[in-house]
Amino acid sequence: MGLDPEVARKRLDAATADLDPPFAALDVDAFDANARDLARRASGTPIRVASKSLRCRWALDRALADPSCQGVMAFTLPEALWLADLGYDDLLVAYPTVDRGALRQLIGDDDARARITIMVDHPDQLDLIDGLVAPQDRDDVKVCLDLDASLSFLDDRVHLGPRRSPVHEPDDARRLAEAIVGRRGFHLDGLMAYEGQIAGVGDDPTAKRWMAPAIRLMQRTSAAELAERRAEVVARVREVADLRFVNGGGTGSLELTSAESAVTEVTAGSGFFGPGLFDHYRAFTPHPAALFALPVVRRPGPGVVTLLGGGYIASGSAGPDKLPKVHLPDGLRLDGNEGAGEVQTPVLGAAADDLQIGDRVWLRHAKSGELGERFETMHLIQGDALLDEVPTYRGDGRCFL
Ligand SMILES: Cc1ncc(COP(=O)(O)O)c(C=O)c1O
Repeated sequence: MGLDPEVARKRLDAATADLDPPFAALDVDAFDANARDLARRASGTPIRVASKSLRCRWALDRALADPSCQGVMAFTLPEALWLADLGYDDLLVAYPTVDRGALRQLIGDDDARARITIMVDHPDQLDLIDGLVAPQDRDDVKVCLDLDASLSFLDDRVHLGPRRSPVHEPDDARRLAEAIVGRRGFHLDGLMAYEGQIAGVGDDPTAKRWMAPAIRLMQRTSAAELAERRAEVVARVREVADLRFVNGGGTGSLELTSAESAVTEVTAGSGFFGPGLFDHYRAFTPHPAALFALPVVRRPGPGVVTLLGGGYIASGSAGPDKLPKVHLPDGLRLDGNEGAGEVQTPVLGAAADDLQIGDRVWLRHAKSGELGERFETMHLIQGDALLDEVPTYRGDGRCFL
């Protein structure tokens, strides 16, 4: 996969010589190597594939073709309905939905209802569904209980982790499970607890090295607390509901989460594409599989060239880590004053002097699936060959978030 950056660059350039940048590309060998590593790290626990982190059906299909992967973690109900219609099965919508049109469609479609499970963490979400079609007038909607996996102390004055579900304690989970099971029109299908403070935070930061000991301590403490709490929650919820699955984890926590006996499946998405934010974990190093190429359009002076486009900033707390990473040629960096621009992006470094107008620079998105919102297709590359061009969600004419 080209450990030597110059060899890697020549290979990518050769494979895409006939294409005009800007374009997005997917290195198939890197994707497959990442998939094998995710499977190894999950050590036999099935991986649910996070579609938000791919937003490309080809990539979803490639991941799901391997026996280590099972089911899709969708990000909106309209997306899940679309995928169900295309024949995808076992679709877990990982975030609560209040889309009345989509919910009515789900309720009215036996096939979709069999394939899709939606997320709840409060009875108000159940009431909203009942308000659309009364429970006696519909078949069961499958729901998953979302358990908050964050670490919180001092009455939540210290909160480490994503702010998602209000269900934190075993008693809260049991109460909500009983409420779901006791209501007509719902089936409690699974339980999910996503530990973003572990899975989504690299424990080997390069920019802020001084933070590494604090991050590692936080993650050790949180993992120990969550393993105990998750096991208790699952045991207490299983007393009232026969859960089909207990989902947890993400690309950054596969080995930890899959080791918990209460967890029946883990999730991964970003790990297949290997975006910039995932360069900073001690347990694994993904291959850069999803890339984009921008053309060199001018040269403002020595040591700098300007690229067309590039302002594809990742979501989350704003900061330099959300900027695209200049991948190849080696030794180029963004300009701290300009960052990645809306229509132009200067890149600096000695390597700029070897670039000609019309050459290309390869970059990586900091996150994963958001790249699919910027490009209609991904060009599949294998070795120095161009295999195919496949649509992203955007290319499929779909924009969910
Ligand atoms: C519910 C849930 N599970 C898992 C993940 C992990 O996804 P990835 O593997 O792409 O980091 C996320 C990411 O935000 C998530 O929201």
